[in-house]
Amino acid sequence: MSKSVLLLPGDGIGPEIVAEAEKVLHKVNEKFGLGLKFDSALVGGAAIDDSGVPLPEETLSKARDADAILLGAVGGPKWDALEMALRPEKGLLGLRSNLALFANLRPAILYPQLASASSLKPEVVSGLDIMIVRELTGGIYFGQPRGVRELENGERQGYNTYVYTESEIRRIGRVAFEAAQQRNKKLCSVDKANVLEVTVLWREIMEDLAKEYPDVELSHMYVDNAAMQLVRAPKQFDVIVTGNMFGDILSDEAAMLTGSIGMLPSASLNADKQGMYEPCHGSAPDIAGQGIANPLATILSAAMMLRYSLQAEEAAQAIEAAVSKVLDQGLRTADIMSEGHTRVSTLEMGEAVLAAL
Ligand code: NAD
Ligand code: IPM
Ligand code: MN
Repeated sequence: MSKSVLLLPGDGIGPEIVAEAEKVLHKVNEKFGLGLKFDSALVGGAAIDDSGVPLPEETLSKARDADAILLGAVGGPKWDALEMALRPEKGLLGLRSNLALFANLRPAILYPQLASASSLKPEVVSGLDIMIVRELTGGIYFGQPRGVRELENGERQGYNTYVYTESEIRRIGRVAFEAAQQRNKKLCSVDKANVLEVTVLWREIMEDLAKEYPDVELSHMYVDNAAMQLVRAPKQFDVIVTGNMFGDILSDEAAMLTGSIGMLPSASLNADKQGMYEPCHGSAPDIAGQGIANPLATILSAAMMLRYSLQAEEAAQAIEAAVSKVLDQGLRTADIMSEGHTRVSTLEMGEAVLAAL
């Protein structure tokens, strides 16, 4: 039975990096006889320019029907002045919430070839392999009420609401415990339980769940300490589970441990394991259109897509091995460039991965 992949290039460097991942997907589709069918649609600023909304009905319906989605990135200065509901980012958030993609997996793995590209000392990061499990459809990103209101004294006040229900905490907790079971059996839950009641409940539910996973060692850490520990001694972590906003911030931090945000892929899954796959980085307006963005996070996201949503483990591993091979060859985009290596463009990096396949 053929499976369908929806490509959502989005904005900025999105179309540049998705083009390279698309070529890689076509190649493994042929090589491994996967029978994948491809379609594409507009989201974010590209959709706003076309039809005035960041998530057109047609895009959402194609996304619902697809077996898996590969997204580039959305957003950029062109649309920053729009009201919140019409911004490109709402397209991405709308996909996540409409498809109930509550489990965001962000693996920070250091390729040994990139030890010198990290801003940390090689001995601090060598062998790094962390999985951040970020809750993606709740927390302060979606809590109600939210907005800007006028107070009695005439001053305006902005407000958001940080909420989690027990069931939301429990389902992301299960994903994290199960991930830890497949790995080194250590789970660190990151919260702010010394200040925020919502995370007191979070901690309580994680403790409760731990009884069902006696083989996993659960620990807790406040988010400020976690941010510090990630750069002090990142290898102490195996799996980290945390809420939407803390996970957003800590995963960008973890990305730098791997050398560049251009290396970090992600999977966003729902209860049916339908998934949307995207690099953790954004549309990088500062380098868009120059052909210098690193496409590897997107190519590695395509590998995660093959693994988690398309039951094509062999093809996923082939892509990961090809990425490792091009790094062995010394090819580097600007963001991971260091002395003694060959600087390549987005397109050249994509072509090199194809050749290695
Ligand atoms: P960003 O991740 O786009 O860029 C941060 C820095 O990292 C920039 O200097 C950029 O050049 C660099 N960078 C990012 N990806 C790179 C790559 N593949 N190769 C080389 N360098 C790369 O974050 P930002 O500047 O804070 O946000 C820019 C826009 O992207 C905003 O509109 C933001 O809302 C949006 N955004 C979208 C997503 C997404 O679609 N998933 C994620 C984050 C930010
Ligand atoms: C990410 C991004 C998004 C987020 C934005 C663009 C809505 O930063 O995917 O990490 O905050 O989740
Ligand atoms: Mn982010």
